Amino acid sequence: MAPFSFSFLFLLLLQSSFLFNCLTAKHHDDHHHQRVRSPNSNPRLHQAFLALQAWKKVIYSDPKNHTTNWVGPSVCNYFGVYCAPSLDDPKIQVVAGIDLNHGDIAGFLPNELGLLADLALLHLNSNRFCGILPQSLANLSLLFELDLSNNRFVGPFPSVVLHLPKLKYLDLRFNEFEGPIPSELFNKSLDAIFINSNRFTNIIPRNIGGKSASVIVFANNNLKGCLPPTIASFANSLEELLLINTSLSGCLPPEIGFLYKLKVLDVSFNKLMGPLPYSLTGLAQLEQLNLAHNMFSGNLYEGICSLPNLENVTVSYNYFCEEVGICQNLTAKGIAFDDRRNCLPEKPFQRSKKECSAVVERPVDCFEHPCGGGGGGYGSSIAAVPAPAPMPIFSSSSVVAPSHL
Ligand SMILES: *[C@@H]1O[C@H](CO)[C@@H](O)[C@H](O)[C@H]1NC(C)=O
Ligand SMILES: *[C@@H]1O[C@H](CO)[C@@H](O)[C@H](O)[C@H]1NC(C)=O
Ligand SMILES: *[C@@H]1O[C@H](CO)[C@@H](O)[C@H](O)[C@H]1NC(C)=O
Ligand SMILES: *[C@@H]1O[C@H](CO)[C@@H](O)[C@H](O)[C@H]1NC(C)=O
Ligand SMILES: *[C@@H]1O[C@H](CO)[C@@H](O)[C@H](O)[C@H]1NC(C)=O
Ligand SMILES: *[C@@H]1O[C@H](CO)[C@@H](O)[C@H](O)[C@H]1NC(C)=O
Repeated sequence: MAPFSFSFLFLLLLQSSFLFNCLTAKHHDDHHHQRVRSPNSNPRLHQAFLALQAWKKVIYSDPKNHTTNWVGPSVCNYFGVYCAPSLDDPKIQVVAGIDLNHGDIAGFLPNELGLLADLALLHLNSNRFCGILPQSLANLSLLFELDLSNNRFVGPFPSVVLHLPKLKYLDLRFNEFEGPIPSELFNKSLDAIFINSNRFTNIIPRNIGGKSASVIVFANNNLKGCLPPTIASFANSLEELLLINTSLSGCLPPEIGFLYKLKVLDVSFNKLMGPLPYSLTGLAQLEQLNLAHNMFSGNLYEGICSLPNLENVTVSYNYFCEEVGICQNLTAKGIAFDDRRNCLPEKPFQRSKKECSAVVERPVDCFEHPCGGGGGGYGSSIAAVPAPAPMPIFSSSSVVAPSHL
């Protein structure tokens, strides 16, 4: 979960408990005015009341009784509902957050959720919500964090999230969304994109215009194709790129080395091949590198092994045939290292000569090799990029610690 969500939620909690205290105090010393000052005296809370009641109607299992107290007009007292002063009118309270994480609740999201126009945060992680997202969610023009992870949502990529102007944190992982990922997703200024463990297909879009994402997790989808060189457009923000088990093929584009803020790179369990791009040696912030279970060949460059922040390098189940210099002895530097099942003549637990020769005798030329078969390979784009430039070294203190692993 993103660090801001904690602080934001904390703020909401503070405000809601403050509100709760005020209301309790009022309740105690002034029964007569309770009705007048009831939180429902404001039309926005009334809209929220309508939305939450409509929602409760389409919840058909709530084993932890989270919505049991969703009765009556005081929505700010509902479990999981957080009120805060409205942004445009601080004198009135509005429903700013809903957090039903780990509720195990089964049900749908009704159209009426569009009435929660002040919602900044919607966390529904680990429930059994199903069906598709209502289009009316496009009304949530302040929504900042949307966490729908680990539910049973289905259908194509929920394009309604593309219409949320304030959205920064999008978590759709562990659902059953399917089909292509719209390229518009990468043109939004999202900070974190989690779409792993769905049924998304199609290649990562080529026209990624992304500027701001610090975390992209695509793992366990059937994306196919190669990683487009346009991944470089995330250079100024991307810290974690996880493309585990996404049916990626072809060579890694040299542009991956432009992601100079990268701390975690995991492309394990794919069909990537060829030599590693030398530009990887420019990833000065890199802490975790996982290339396991691919068909990479050639050398493990000393420049990778001597990156200053490395903690864990996993290259097992590939066809590397040489570890240069310090790479032979990374564990001596206190770095977790796994190079089993390669073609390293000096090392234990390697592939057989037969397995190795099949690959080593047919070296992959990444300049020639078109990406994923079919047109639009990145060969042409490599030609347009001269040699991988040495990456600037940034002080690690300028980068916020990763928080998503
Ligand atoms: C939820 O409420 C029902 C009915 O009041 C009760 O039987 C059950 O034990 C409650 N479950 C939890 C987890 O509190
Ligand atoms: C969108 O929100 C407004 C309040 O800002 C409300 O009047 C309207 O009915 C909502 N639309 C939908 C589709 O929920
Ligand atoms: C995304 O942005 C890029 C670059 O800004 C642009 O070329 C592309 O057309 C945009 N794509 C969409 C679907 O908006
Ligand atoms: C890869 O993802 C598929 C679903 O797309 C899943 O069935 C399979 O178990 C995953 N494999 C690994 C090694 O995680
Ligand atoms: C290193 O990374 C691999 C792959 O992600 C993981 O399986 C292993 O547990 C990690 N080792 C340590 C010591 O963190
Ligand atoms: C690795 O380094 C350790 C400690 O510096 C040393 O004892 C060991 O012999 C080295 N192993 C190889 C294969 O170079």
